[in-house]
Amino acid sequence: MAKLKLLVTGGAGFIGSNFIRYILKEHPEWQVVNLDKLTYAGNLSNLKDVEGTLRYKFIKGDIANHELVDKSFKEEEFDAVVNFAAESHVDRSILDASPFIETNVKGTQVLLEATRKYKLGRFIQISTDEVYGSLSETGKFTEESILQPNSPYAASKAAADMLCRAYYKTYEVPVIITRSSNNYGPYQFPEKLIPLMIRNALNGRELPVYGEGQNVRDWLFVEDNCWAIDLVLQKGQVGEIYNIGGNSEKKNIEVVELICSILERKTENRALRTKIRFIKDPRGVAHDFRYALDYSKIRKELGWNPQQKFEKGLERTIQWYLENQEWVKKVITGEYQEYYRKIYRV
Ligand code: NAD
Ligand code: DAU
Repeated sequence: MAKLKLLVTGGAGFIGSNFIRYILKEHPEWQVVNLDKLTYAGNLSNLKDVEGTLRYKFIKGDIANHELVDKSFKEEEFDAVVNFAAESHVDRSILDASPFIETNVKGTQVLLEATRKYKLGRFIQISTDEVYGSLSETGKFTEESILQPNSPYAASKAAADMLCRAYYKTYEVPVIITRSSNNYGPYQFPEKLIPLMIRNALNGRELPVYGEGQNVRDWLFVEDNCWAIDLVLQKGQVGEIYNIGGNSEKKNIEVVELICSILERKTENRALRTKIRFIKDPRGVAHDFRYALDYSKIRKELGWNPQQKFEKGLERTIQWYLENQEWVKKVITGEYQEYYRKIYRV
């Protein structure tokens, strides 16, 4: 695709900001418009380095606001949409599901409707492996696996996927869905496992591991996901779903211990493991035991494979957080302290 005007929603968040940076670098002809509501998770400082780029524009707004979305589509004449905008944290969805329904379900429908009305060429829905539910010790989810979401977050993402399918079947809106496993890397908000542990360790706080830390996640370096989404956008088959896995399954406790050992090597602190605390699981029965993705479809059809080995990717991530402690301080608002008290009961 030589020239493209792309709408990226939720571009001030973790994956969205990495994706915008990736696209502006990889496609010197493309233009990117970032539509973001700037919730607690959205920070324009994530995109400081691209702010002045002429091919980049920011619009503050809510994807569930029909008038604003319609006006933006009319004025900007986008060629394609990549929809990252979402409430993305499972623990928050257990405290209050409503913003998840508003943004993840209604917001997606509003964007699909505008894509239909203005006849855009592509709609990429950024979904998640959580829509498939949970696995036991063995097996992997394929794109054919049934949807069994367990948390309100996962249910809202599954509902959005169903709307995407319906808009494709009913109106032939050119939708493609990606479902990736757990991303990690620079600019991730410190409510998620890896950045939360790094921040707590650097601040002498306890390292709260849910249950016994035996749950398994499949870790994907964010740049590998950006590459996969770019390939899907350019070469994916309309109406299809693509799993994007990291080939890097780890128990939570293994991840936390690895963070401790990397940080012990990189800093003066030699006793980080003593800060690990096994706490009562705030997710209860909604806590999925294991996720693992079969991503042979994207490998065979589009030639994608995760490039970053977990240990190296984690080291890069930790180095970024060490060098960007001011960023962490800046993105944590009073709201975060209140949320932290509710989940961790401190
Ligand atoms: P994030 O929470 O870091 O960022 C979400 C962004 O969306 C923020 O910038 C926020 O301001 C914006 N936003 C929220 N509500 C909005 C609304 N109503 N209108 C406009 N903007 C709004 O999330 P993330 O981790 O970067 O995840 C991005 C997407 O990828 C989400 O759709 C998520 O479900 C999906 N996903 C994430 C992961 C992961 O490991 N982080 C894995 C698989 C899929
Ligand atoms: O799998 C993809 C999903 O990955 C995305 O769809 C979500 O947007 C993203 O948030 C992520 O969900 P998880 O719930 O898997 O990620 P989180 O980092 O919140 O938790 C990872 C694991 O670590 C999970 O088993 C819970 C555990 N955990 C998490 C936190 C924040 C802890 O043990 N302690 C913690 O403090």
